[in-house]
Amino acid sequence: MNGQAAATLIKNGTLVTASDTFAADLLIAGGRIVRIAEPAASDPVGGDVKVIDASGCYVLPGGIDAHTHLDMPFGGTTSSDDFETGTRAAAFGGTTTIIDFAIQQKGGTLRQALDTWHAKAQGKAVIDYAFHMIMTDAPDASLREMADMVREGVTSFKLFMAYPNVLLLDDQSIFKCMLRAGEIGALICMHAETGLPIDILVERALARGHTAPIYHALTRPEAAEATGTERAIALAEMAKVPVYIVHLSAQRALERVMEARDRGLPAYAETCPQYLFLDEDALRGTATDPFEGAKYVCTPPLRPSHHHDHLWRGLRNYDLQVVSTDHCPFCMKDQKILGKDSFAKVPNGMPGIETRLHLMHDAVHRGQISLNRFVEITSTAPAKIFGLYPKKGSLNIGADGDVVVWDPKQALTLSHENLHMRVDYAAYPEKTVLGAPRFVFSRGELVIDATNGAGKSAVCLGRTGRGQYIRCGTFNL
Ligand code: URP
Ligand code: ZN
Ligand code: ZN
Repeated sequence: MNGQAAATLIKNGTLVTASDTFAADLLIAGGRIVRIAEPAASDPVGGDVKVIDASGCYVLPGGIDAHTHLDMPFGGTTSSDDFETGTRAAAFGGTTTIIDFAIQQKGGTLRQALDTWHAKAQGKAVIDYAFHMIMTDAPDASLREMADMVREGVTSFKLFMAYPNVLLLDDQSIFKCMLRAGEIGALICMHAETGLPIDILVERALARGHTAPIYHALTRPEAAEATGTERAIALAEMAKVPVYIVHLSAQRALERVMEARDRGLPAYAETCPQYLFLDEDALRGTATDPFEGAKYVCTPPLRPSHHHDHLWRGLRNYDLQVVSTDHCPFCMKDQKILGKDSFAKVPNGMPGIETRLHLMHDAVHRGQISLNRFVEITSTAPAKIFGLYPKKGSLNIGADGDVVVWDPKQALTLSHENLHMRVDYAAYPEKTVLGAPRFVFSRGELVIDATNGAGKSAVCLGRTGRGQYIRCGTFNL
């Protein structure tokens, strides 16, 4: 327990779950939530109990970020946060579990990929972590191996319809993976952009001398995502399996998910804060330097701002189930700069692991989602979809003591100086939000203490390497 008290009593707070908001005191002992009681009835039982005063604060289940890329090789470089810096930044933002993506090398085994990602995380993670598996190849041996992965707690497999010759899988391979997933209780996660025509658009843009970051967005149109989403859902329907669309960014892709759900199909989707708070114009950079737009090169690209309302409505109406980050940071210096002469060489991805809860809670203040929906989309729903519930994503008795004491009135500007992600810029440098963690507990251990203020005034007490690998259960919704 890192010299910490054996038990923690969080008093005077307002507990917020995906369904309820109520005043209660919460006791964590042995790393788990052991008691939730009316405030008056919950005096410490004696012994070694640390008492936290949560007056004026919400008490939330720790955030679960179901889509991160730490220490990930991409485009000739590696994402700039590793499992130490990335999970620490996540904790500062109130996230207590991440699900990162192991990547099968083309021709390699899933076991090799899993071993590689365990080695990246082992001894480094500050919070708990689980893995999805990206499959880049689907020979019979890999299809058989999917069952081994499920036994290892890797129960979701991401497939790509984009990035030909690198990550893309053809429809027959996708379909085989889906059939196999159905047999073993796994979930297919889809990067749903139809990638072959995108590559032609990219070639043509570059041939015309269109090299600036904005062409990243202009060569990956909404139609490519809409048709990818429709195809992913149709293949899953044929295979009679659920499908989860990752990083959905656009109205027409969302409409494909809505149509499927209206027909009763088990189609699920996540979006990310960048698609809710930023728009395509960010890729134009500044008046003096268009390359500043490289900060915002991610895939799918940021869309024109009229998409925002559709995505917010999708979150409110349960057509979108999850907000994850797709955290995949690259520094401007040495990394994004690789694409100075060609937008196609800008490493794809943005930082976000630390700011997700801040941004989504700010949306509660602005009336875009309810407080309970905020908890659901950032914690409970990803826990349920990826087989971590109720150990994670809940405040139930017996759940892990992953608890955030959240001060809804604490202001924080999301500037580079105030954040901890290992990247040399901020995605929302001028945005001031209301709401920040005051305390973050992971399995009952106090990992973040922000009593003296948010941002760089907060202190991380979580030891490097204390984070544990968590096995996901099979798909069970
Ligand atoms: O730009 C992105 N999204 N980078 C990470 C890879 C992916 O497709 O999720
Ligand atoms: Zn993707
Ligand atoms: Zn991703």
